[in-house]
Amino acid sequence: MNNPEIIYVSREMGSAVSTAKLMARTSSPVLIEGESGTGKELIARLVHVSGQRGKMPFVAINCGAIPENLFESELFGYRSGAFTGAVRDKPGIFEAAHGGTIFLDEIGDLSVAMQAKCLRVLQEKEVRRVGENRPRRIDVRVIAATNRLLEREMKIGRFREDLYFRIGVLRLCLPPLRDRPEDVEVLSRFFASGYARQLGQAVPSIEREVLEVLSLYSWPGNVRELENEIHRMVALSGEGTALGVELVSPRIRQGIRHGLNGGVKGKLKARLVSYEKEIIKETLDLYGWNKTRTARHLGLTRQGLYRKLGRLRIYRTDRN
Ligand SMILES: Nc1ncnc2c1ncn2[C@@H]1O[C@H](COP(=O)(O)OP(=O)(O)OP(=O)(O)O)[C@@H](O)[C@H]1O
Ligand SMILES: [Mg+2]
Repeated sequence: MNNPEIIYVSREMGSAVSTAKLMARTSSPVLIEGESGTGKELIARLVHVSGQRGKMPFVAINCGAIPENLFESELFGYRSGAFTGAVRDKPGIFEAAHGGTIFLDEIGDLSVAMQAKCLRVLQEKEVRRVGENRPRRIDVRVIAATNRLLEREMKIGRFREDLYFRIGVLRLCLPPLRDRPEDVEVLSRFFASGYARQLGQAVPSIEREVLEVLSLYSWPGNVRELENEIHRMVALSGEGTALGVELVSPRIRQGIRHGLNGGVKGKLKARLVSYEKEIIKETLDLYGWNKTRTARHLGLTRQGLYRKLGRLRIYRTDRN
């Protein structure tokens, strides 16, 4: 498996990636928390490929997608004749991941009964196929992911405490996209070039105004939602034309309240960043974009102002 391409410029994602690489040096279970679409599976793959098991299998399973009655046979395998339809022996995914990593996605969706079965496997490091008594030793690293607050689920009795403490030895939390708006531009360019290439088209440029709108939106579906949006825009744009603001979904255009990232919903940091951006832009306009006077007015050095312009991606648009 290749190193997954993880695109970011934000400090938050930078530290998640370095933490993931440190965790890769061990074989301990990892719990990845984060809203839907924040890149949990991507980070799980990174932990896997960066470690000693990198060349061994990585087997992902979505715990919420397996019906309760198939869970054991899927995870632990079965012996022929164990139940109707079991016509031959079949290993489960724990065995398939032997030597490598099993990725238990949406672990918070497991029923309490299944949580107990998983815990036993993790503790004993062996599985029993359905219909068999003989235990089989397995060596797998477990990475689990959840978009729920497991701590809360645990307090209300929906998640077993012992399983939580076993899988939560190393924890990594991925920040939502609205808390790292500086990643929107690099991700947009990355997805635009990927999709254009898929369509055999030249990579389109993206208008500045589009990037501004996209970085102000609150992205409830996080990176996956941004990926879909760019995909749509590339598909609808003419070959050789820039991606313009008219291609942005109305939902997104309406979803931003000018200046205050997502109205009262955004996190403090993201709202401060967009507020800071507004103040700097207004002052630049006031002084006709004279940087020296703008810097003096705001009590910044010229270099300090330039750094902020770069970091906050403030450009002169001359729209008035
Ligand atoms: N930093 C990133 N760089 C490049 N692509 C990313 C990044 N983060 C997420 N993606 C892409 O966004 C999509 C969603 O990511 P992923 O499936 O890892 O999220 P998730 O947290 O597992 O989401 P869910 O909870 O919905 O399963 C994938 O197509 C993934 O490749
Ligand atoms: Mg996922």
